Amino acid sequence: MAPSLDSYFQQVDTLSESFIERLRKAVAIPSVSADEERRPDVVKMGEFLASELKTLGAEVHLRPLGKQPHKEHLELPPVVLARYGSDKNKRTILVYGHYDVQPALKEDGWATEPFTLTVDDKGRMYGRGATDDKGPVLGWLNAIEAHQKAGIDFPVNLLMCFEGMEEYGSEGLDDLIHAEAKNFFADADAVCISDNYWLGTEKPCLTYGLRGCNYYSIEISGPGQDLHSGVFGGTAHEPMTDLVRVMGSLVDPQGKILIEGLDALVAPLTDEEKSLYGDIAFTMDNLYESLGSQTGLFPDKERTLMGRWRFPSLSLHGIEGAFSAPGAKTVIPAKVTGKFSIRIVPNMEIDDVNKLVEAHVNKAFAALGSKNTCKFIVQHCGKWWVASPKHWNFTAAAKAVERVWKVKPDLTREGGSIPVTLTFEQATGKNVLLLPMGSSTDAAHSINEKLDRRNYIEGIKLLGAYLHYVAEEPMNAAA
Ligand code: BES
Ligand code: MN
Ligand code: MN
Repeated sequence: MAPSLDSYFQQVDTLSESFIERLRKAVAIPSVSADEERRPDVVKMGEFLASELKTLGAEVHLRPLGKQPHKEHLELPPVVLARYGSDKNKRTILVYGHYDVQPALKEDGWATEPFTLTVDDKGRMYGRGATDDKGPVLGWLNAIEAHQKAGIDFPVNLLMCFEGMEEYGSEGLDDLIHAEAKNFFADADAVCISDNYWLGTEKPCLTYGLRGCNYYSIEISGPGQDLHSGVFGGTAHEPMTDLVRVMGSLVDPQGKILIEGLDALVAPLTDEEKSLYGDIAFTMDNLYESLGSQTGLFPDKERTLMGRWRFPSLSLHGIEGAFSAPGAKTVIPAKVTGKFSIRIVPNMEIDDVNKLVEAHVNKAFAALGSKNTCKFIVQHCGKWWVASPKHWNFTAAAKAVERVWKVKPDLTREGGSIPVTLTFEQATGKNVLLLPMGSSTDAAHSINEKLDRRNYIEGIKLLGAYLHYVAEEPMNAAA
C-alpha cells in the first residue's frame, strides 16, 4: 500500500499546474444559484463537470430536477451523478459536493475579478467558489486522474453526486437522494463530503456535526407606492419603521435570541461534551484572524466554539426594498422585506422552531399598533446533523490526514449547514464524514474568497489517501 500512495502523491505534484488550470476553468463559470440570470451558467458548470468526468472514463448522468419551487419559470440545474469503477471486491464511497457558488461582484470590494482565478506570490488562489466548493469537488476528479497517470489501481468504486443549488437550500435534492438510495447509491458503504474548512490555518480536522438553517422573511407593506417623506412623513404608518422594530426584537446585541420558548428546545450541555472543547486546536487569535477584527462575543475559546457549534444563533441578513444606494434619498419605501435566519442545533425540530418564530413575529408586529400589513414567510429549512466519529470511515480519514499532513486531526463540529448531510445519512443508512480541504481564512461567501495552493494540492493527496485507507479498513468493521 505505502509505495502506491507515494507514487500517487508524486503524480499529484507533477500534475499540480494542470489541476490549478482545471480550477481556473471552473471558477471562470459564474454558477451563482441565487441569481436568475446566471442560471445558464449554473447549468454550464454542471455540464463542464460531466464532460470532465466522461473524459476520465466515468459513467455520467445529468439528472434534471424540474422547475424551481415558487419560481415556475425557472428550471433547476441538473444533478451530476457519476460512477467510477464497479468492482464487486472493492468498497464503494459516495461523495457529495456542490458546483454552485455565492454571488460575487467586483464592486463588493474584491481586490481581483471574482470569476478569474488569481494566484498571488504566496500561493493564495483567489476566486469565487475556489474553496466553496469547486476546489474540493475538482479534488475528486483530480484524484482519479492522478491514479490513472500514475498507473495505480483506483482503490474503491466512487459514486459522485454534485448539485447546483446548495447555496439556495438544495432545492429538489432530498427527493432525488431518497429515490436513488436503493438505486444509484445502493452500493455505497459510506459517504464523504468535502465542503467545510479547518478551524485554523495549520491543523486539519474531521467534522462530525453541522448546524441546520431555517431562513425567514418578514414582508411589511402599506402605501400603494414609494412616497416622498416631505409630503407623507408624519401622516402615514411607515413599513420600514415597523420592520426595523420587529427585526430588532428577534435578537439582542450580545447574540441572545429573544424568541420565547426557543431555549427550551436546545439540548442541555453535558459534562462529557464540555470536556471536548478544551483539546481543540483553536485560539481567539484564529477567530480574530478569520473575522478580520477583534469583535468577538465571548472572551474565551470554549464559549466561542460552543456559540458556533452547539447553540443556535440568529442573524439579520438584509432588507429588500429599502433604500441602500449612496446619497440621501428622501423616500418612504412602500414595501420592505426583512431577511433573517436561525442556525438550529440538537434537539430543535424545524416545525417547532417555525411555530415559535411565527408567533414571535406576529406578536411583535401586533404590539406596534400599525395599520400596515405584515406577512411572515418561511423560505427554506435545513436540519442539523451530528454523527458518530467512531466509524471506519473516520478512522480511514484520520490515517490519511496523518499521512499527508503529519498530524492527528481534530474532531470538530461546524456552525454552517449542508442541508443534505442528514438526508444522505438517513436515506443510505451509512456513515457520513466531512473531510475539509480549505482553511479558516478562505473567506467562503465573503469578498476575496480563496483556496491556498497548498491546501488544494495536499487536499487532493488527502482525498486519494483517504480512499486508499478506506480500502484497507477491515470489511467486517462496524458498519
Ligand atoms: N460549505 C458551506 C457549509 C459550511 C459553512 C460548512 C461553514 C462549514 C462551515 C455551504 O456551502 C453553505 O454555505 N451552506 C449554506 C446552506 C444554507 C443555504 C442552507 C449555509 O451554511 O449558509
Ligand atoms: Mn459549500
Ligand atoms: Mn457556501
